[in-house]
Amino acid sequence: MEIMVTPSREDQLKEKPEDDSRLGFGDIFTDHMFLMDYQTGRGWFNPRIEPYHHLAIDPAAMALHYGQELFEGLKAYRGPDNGIYLFRARDNFERLNKGARRLAMAEVDIGVAMEGMKKLILLDQEWIPRSPGTSLYIRPTLIATEAHLGVRPAHEYLFFIILGPVGAYYKEGLNPVKICAEDQYVRAAVGGTGNTKSAGNYAASLLAAEKAYKKGCTQVLWLDARERKYVEEVGTMNMFFVIEDEVITAPLTGSILPGITRDSVIRMIKDWGIKVSERALSMDEIIAAAKDGRLREAFGTGTATVISPVGQILYKDEEYVVAGGEMGEISQRLYREIMAIQYARKEDPYGWIERIG
Ligand SMILES: Cc1ncc(COP(=O)(O)O)c(C=O)c1O
Repeated sequence: MEIMVTPSREDQLKEKPEDDSRLGFGDIFTDHMFLMDYQTGRGWFNPRIEPYHHLAIDPAAMALHYGQELFEGLKAYRGPDNGIYLFRARDNFERLNKGARRLAMAEVDIGVAMEGMKKLILLDQEWIPRSPGTSLYIRPTLIATEAHLGVRPAHEYLFFIILGPVGAYYKEGLNPVKICAEDQYVRAAVGGTGNTKSAGNYAASLLAAEKAYKKGCTQVLWLDARERKYVEEVGTMNMFFVIEDEVITAPLTGSILPGITRDSVIRMIKDWGIKVSERALSMDEIIAAAKDGRLREAFGTGTATVISPVGQILYKDEEYVVAGGEMGEISQRLYREIMAIQYARKEDPYGWIERIG
C-alpha cells in the first residue's frame, strides 16, 4: 500500500519550541500526522501523511459511546551520531494488536503502520529535540469511527499517529516520587482490560489519582482487585521493589500492562546476575521490609518516565521512606544503561534499537 504524503504549506508550519531543555510532556505536537482507515470487508486503506489537523468524526462514532479506543506510546531518540533511533517499536504495535483483539477492534496492519510512522518521523525530524533526556514521543491511536448506536464491535476504524517533542514526564525529573497505595478504588481486574492500553483504564484511574495528589503523591500504587493486598503497577509505570537481594515485580496475570520497559529491565537485571522474581508481592511484605531496613529500592519503569525512583510510599495514612528518599543503586544503573542503549550511546547487545535515519 502506498502512503500518500501531503506536506504542510510553509504558512501551516508551526513554531518549534525555542529551548528544548525546558520541554514538558504532552502539549506540543509536530507539523504532520499519519492516518489510515478501515472498513469490515475492505480492510485497511488510504494510508496517508497530512498536515496535523482536527479530526471530523460523526457524533455517533462508536469510540465516543462504547469506548473502543486504544493507544500506544513510544519514542524516537536522537543519537550522538545525529541518527534517529527507535526502541523495540514493533513490540508496541504487537501490544496494540493484542489490545485490539481484546476489545474486538480491527487489528492494524503492522507493516503499513510502522512504515507510516517512520516516514512521519523522518518528515518531522527537525522536531526531535537534542537536549539530554528529551525525545520525540509517538502516539499511535486506534478508534472506532462507525456511526452507530447499539453495543457491538464497530465495522469502521481510524488509526492515526501523532508526534510531539518531550522532556521529563514528572516535574520531579529523576528525584524520587511519592506514591499512594490505593485500597478503595480499583483500576483493573484479572479478565478485564488492564493489560491493554485502552482509554477506559486511564479514565478509571483518575479519581484515585486526584485523591493521591491531595495527599502529596505523584502516582497511585494500584493493588489487586480481589483482595486489595498485592501490588500491581502505578498510573503509567510498572513497579519494581528491591527487598534484600531480590528484585520483585508483579507477574503478568492480565490486570497490569505488559510494559516494554519492564521486560527490558527484567532482561538487563538478569544479565547482571541479580535475582529477579515475577511474583505476587503484598503490601504487608513491603511494609515489613521497609520497617526493618530490607526494602532497598522501589522504582517504576515506563516509556514516558524511563526509570522513576520511589522515595516514599503512603499506605493507610502511614508514610514509609524507601532508600532514605534517594535514588537507589539498581535504579541508577538501569537508568544509565537503558538510556545509553535508547540514545545509541553504547552498543546494544539485545537488538532493541533500530536506526531509521
Ligand atoms: C498503565 C501502564 N503501565 C505500565 C506502562 C509502561 O509500559 P511501557 O514500558 O511499555 O511504556 C505504561 C505506559 O505505557 C502504562 O500506561
